[in-house]
Amino acid sequence: MSENFSTSDHFKVRDLGLAKAGRMKIDWAESRMPVMAALREEHARKQSLKGFRITGCLHVTKETAVLIEALAAAGAQISWSGCNPLSTNDEVAAALAEAGISIYAWHGMNTEEFYWCIDKTLEQKPTMTLDDGADLIFRVHDKHLDLIEGILGGTEETTTGVHRLRAMSRDQALKYPVIAVNDAETKWDFDNVYGTGQSSLDGILRATSVLLAGKNFVVAGYGHCGSGCALRAAGMGASVIATEVKPTAALKATLNGHRVMKMDEAAKVGDVFITATGMKDILVGRHFETMKDGAIVCNTGHYDCEINLVELEELAESKRTIRDNCEEYVMKDGRRIYVLAQGRLVNLAAAEGHPSEVMDMSFANQFLSMVKLAQEGKDLEIAVHDIPEAQDQQIAAIKLETLDAGLDVLTAEQIAYDDDYAAGT
Ligand code: ADE
Repeated sequence: MSENFSTSDHFKVRDLGLAKAGRMKIDWAESRMPVMAALREEHARKQSLKGFRITGCLHVTKETAVLIEALAAAGAQISWSGCNPLSTNDEVAAALAEAGISIYAWHGMNTEEFYWCIDKTLEQKPTMTLDDGADLIFRVHDKHLDLIEGILGGTEETTTGVHRLRAMSRDQALKYPVIAVNDAETKWDFDNVYGTGQSSLDGILRATSVLLAGKNFVVAGYGHCGSGCALRAAGMGASVIATEVKPTAALKATLNGHRVMKMDEAAKVGDVFITATGMKDILVGRHFETMKDGAIVCNTGHYDCEINLVELEELAESKRTIRDNCEEYVMKDGRRIYVLAQGRLVNLAAAEGHPSEVMDMSFANQFLSMVKLAQEGKDLEIAVHDIPEAQDQQIAAIKLETLDAGLDVLTAEQIAYDDDYAAGT
């Protein structure tokens, strides 16, 4: 296990001395998360989570700190780990540890340490789990079956995690109810599109500082996340090429003005590649063999399986870190291929993740789902549950108020018209 950490009976972080810088980051995020502020105020007053123990495994960022502290203010006892070895912000982790939160997280951990941290957080015997990617819930089902009886339910933040949990549910392997936070409209329609779009380009630019205008920007996967990346890359003057396996998604990309082609063709012309599919082996050896000199390759999907780095290593003659989060692979014919953030989430590893303004809504869904599990978890069927429409509308309404946007209201006549099937031509 690595050395020179700050540790105590309730945390292990890189360096507690970073806490002051972390607190300023959290203050900054908090000032841009008005929905979370409103929820925190209400539920701190009601102490809605008093007596509940929440164990979370989700990127330790300044925005996550706002969520954690709101849950704690509502009375919950918290323990937390990061859900990706490269996404923890050490300053934020230090600030949380200093504030008394039980946290086990640092940037740059290995796989063994990753699961050690999860196991430490489970020592508090949670009543609820909060996941991003489903590694925590899977760990409970795999190695801590004794905890299941005491768990009312869990939540899942991301597309990949929900996919995993639905597969577990189909197999009847899921042992407690889970709320699919990802599938709330106020999550996927904003976080996945605008959040991923902006933060992924932010990561690419921090790691490379290249000019995007005029570049061929290849987006693998034109789902919510991929379309967000395409939107922002096109906005900066890149020419977007999408690759897809799903006809409707490919059609959308075409009608949004992008070229669609097979990856075998895109590999030859792309300048920058980003994978956003949730599937493994999107970029493999035969693609690296045909890429242009100087091609930049990165991933924004949850797991680091989309770019096959083993095959790239086999083809490369040498490798060096040329900039932070940017590795140069020199191929046998002299071509250089640049891999960002070791093929892990480029938006969190090379930048700061999604901006606070979108995480405000995603985490409002997490927060309200925790309150729901506290109140109704015992009665929920063991399945993956959607967020109720009313919760989406509540969050969107609070957000709109803070954006100074006016909302029209239907008149009584309009409401009657809505139900009047006899009204026509
Ligand atoms: N996922 C993407 N961006 C994030 C952020 N800023 N905080 C936590 N999780 C995230």
